[in-house]
Amino acid sequence: MKILILGADGQLGTDLVKTNPGRDVVGAVLADADVTDAGAVRTLVEKHRPAWVVNTTAFTRTEDCEEKPELAFAVNAFGARNAATAARGVGARLLTIGTDFVFDGEKGAPYVESDPVRPLNVYGISKYAGERLAQVEAPDAVVARGASLFGAAGALGKGGNFVESILKKAKAGEDVSVVNDIVVSPTYTRDMAARLWELIDRNAPGGVYHIVNPGACSWWEFAAEALRLVGLPAPKPVPSSAYPSKIKRPKYAALGSERLKPLGFAPLRSWRDALKAYLVEKGHIVR
Ligand SMILES: NC(=O)c1ccc[n+]([C@@H]2O[C@H](COP(=O)([O-])OP(=O)(O)OC[C@H]3O[C@@H](n4cnc5c(N)ncnc54)[C@H](OP(=O)(O)O)[C@@H]3O)[C@@H](O)[C@H]2O)c1
Repeated sequence: MKILILGADGQLGTDLVKTNPGRDVVGAVLADADVTDAGAVRTLVEKHRPAWVVNTTAFTRTEDCEEKPELAFAVNAFGARNAATAARGVGARLLTIGTDFVFDGEKGAPYVESDPVRPLNVYGISKYAGERLAQVEAPDAVVARGASLFGAAGALGKGGNFVESILKKAKAGEDVSVVNDIVVSPTYTRDMAARLWELIDRNAPGGVYHIVNPGACSWWEFAAEALRLVGLPAPKPVPSSAYPSKIKRPKYAALGSERLKPLGFAPLRSWRDALKAYLVEKGHIVR
């Protein structure tokens, strides 16, 4: 069974390619096909004729999405649609990646798959449009929503990841301040990739799945744990109002799942265990 991964050099895409035990995987990057170009995506998919198309591409710089809404929609919404149309054209299934930013953060408890969406910014709206457009084109599409991803490759679009920026600053002796009033589900791309492979291997039913390392925390708690594990002092907690932003962000963006357990999937390891594994993978600590 052949699997075509779009965005293979991204943070999640890299781990999907890496954690692929003996599968027939083709990784495609922007130079192979721009997802905003429906014809290019169709040509690529027709060339490889995979059983699954996995779309990990996105315009992920949330603040820039406000400035460039056309590009945000071209990549995040129509890119997902183009992947879905091309997949359907060769009889392949589509797995496309969604985001916690489809929620408004008012729930105050982890969002499950059936919770109503209400994205607060262009990034979240364009990603939600991508989910729906993909599902309309390919009704059995799997939409796997991730959250606050950290992985060895770092988010290409964001120039790294949160953990590395915090460690770099702390190791350089700079003051590190981190917001303590935004709650997230930090998720290790290696673990998310492993779960995506399970969904593919089991030919999971279509629809939305939330895939996170469980146990929500504030960005401050996450940073404090990373620093504690490498033997450095905790950062200074600050309110998010200390960092004026161009966009509205959900204050409580943690995800949970009501769909995975009934299908027999065990929860992923906690974010603390995942963070430790990440720090080992990056060589910051030894096991
Ligand atoms: N990062 C997070 O915290 C987070 C949280 C929740 C959900 N997600 C979702 O998870 C998925 C993976 O995110 P990530 O962190 O792995 O992002 P990433 O590292 O920025 O990877 C995105 C990939 O998309 C590619 N790409 C961008 N525009 C493209 C286009 N027009 N045509 C083809 N490829 C294009 C990028 O290639 P270039 O670099 O060459 O442009 C890159 O390989 C995305 O769907 C994202 O929305 C991410």
